[in-house]
Amino acid sequence: MPDSGGLEFELRRMQPSDLPEVLSIERQSFSHPWIESTFQGEMQNRGISHPIVAVSGPGGRLIGYVLYWLVGDEMQINNVAVHPEWRRRGVAERMLRAVLEDAKDGGAAFAVLEVRESNTAARTLYEKKLGFGFLAVREGYYSHPDEAAIVLGLPL
Ligand SMILES: CC(C)(COP(=O)(O)OP(=O)(O)OC[C@H]1O[C@@H](n2cnc3c(N)ncnc32)[C@H](O)[C@@H]1OP(=O)(O)O)[C@@H](O)C(=O)NCCC(=O)NCCS
Repeated sequence: MPDSGGLEFELRRMQPSDLPEVLSIERQSFSHPWIESTFQGEMQNRGISHPIVAVSGPGGRLIGYVLYWLVGDEMQINNVAVHPEWRRRGVAERMLRAVLEDAKDGGAAFAVLEVRESNTAARTLYEKKLGFGFLAVREGYYSHPDEAAIVLGLPL
């Protein structure tokens, strides 16, 4: 993958041996993290779910992941995180651009996601960099802490 931030990585499907690294990033990234069985279920859901990891370097260090569903012509992005040590180097933006392209190739016409209202990093990435637009507010959608979700969409 071309490297704009001094960091090269490859994308591949998440596998069970990735779980310790994925769970570590997940717990460092979210106040209400997904649990192991949730990721296991997604890995087994081969028809719909696309859990994708970014790995870098000879040892294949896992630096981030994105998980989306492809249902009919809709891509639903359900989880995105980058290891805290590797943030602000364009990893999330490049991962997302790659999976948006893959989903489009797989028949998606529209991408949708939910984001915490106060998540400036993610909202700047989706809205300013990737061109997602506002669709709706879901009040009280998140817990720990309670917060609204902003629903964003992007025609592909
Ligand atoms: C949101 C997240 C995935 C971004 O990952 P990242 O690899 O650091 O993002 P990138 O380096 O690709 O950033 C791309 C752009 O997004 C915006 N952005 C990213 N982090 C930002 C921050 N902390 N503050 C403001 N803007 C930010 C910037 O516009 C950035 O471009 P720039 O660096 O040229 O200014 C990462 O911060 C993360 O894992 N957060 C915790 C989990 C999370 O909130 N996931 C999203 C749930 S909806």
